[in-house]
Amino acid sequence: MSCEDSCRRSFLRHSGCGLLTLALLGFSESAGALPVTTMEGTGTDTERRYPLPSADGVTIDRRAQIILVRHASHVYAMALACPHENAVVKWIAKDGRFQCSKHDSRYTPEGTYTSGHATRNLDRFPVRRELNEVVVTVDRVYRSDQSLPAWTSAGVAL
Ligand code: FES
Repeated sequence: MSCEDSCRRSFLRHSGCGLLTLALLGFSESAGALPVTTMEGTGTDTERRYPLPSADGVTIDRRAQIILVRHASHVYAMALACPHENAVVKWIAKDGRFQCSKHDSRYTPEGTYTSGHATRNLDRFPVRRELNEVVVTVDRVYRSDQSLPAWTSAGVAL
């Protein structure tokens, strides 16, 4: 067996595992959609740090319950919980939006509510850039129905 054959089999085996993992997490990929990855941030209970995303995409930190999105030259950190009844929101790659797993409320990539039972946007965390890292303050959250100016400005412009 040539190296090319074994390398190709190894690649297919490993990429198949990755796609299966994403499918089990409720994510799917499609051409032109933001890619989604999972990652655990580093830091403390009050601040989580992530590498600055090098391209548009969605990063899910399930442990910290944070969604990090790079989209339209901005980075946002949002709560993984739907503001209606705290169900997990999922990234629907083929439609380029988030959707609640319980009652199907829908949100744009920036977390803006578009339809469903929820009555506000996805909650955002304060976020700042430090060199090549994104630092998320997790002990404070902005609700769009209580502090819209803070919610609107809670992002990093790239
Ligand atoms: S919990 Fe998300 S819409 Fe109800």
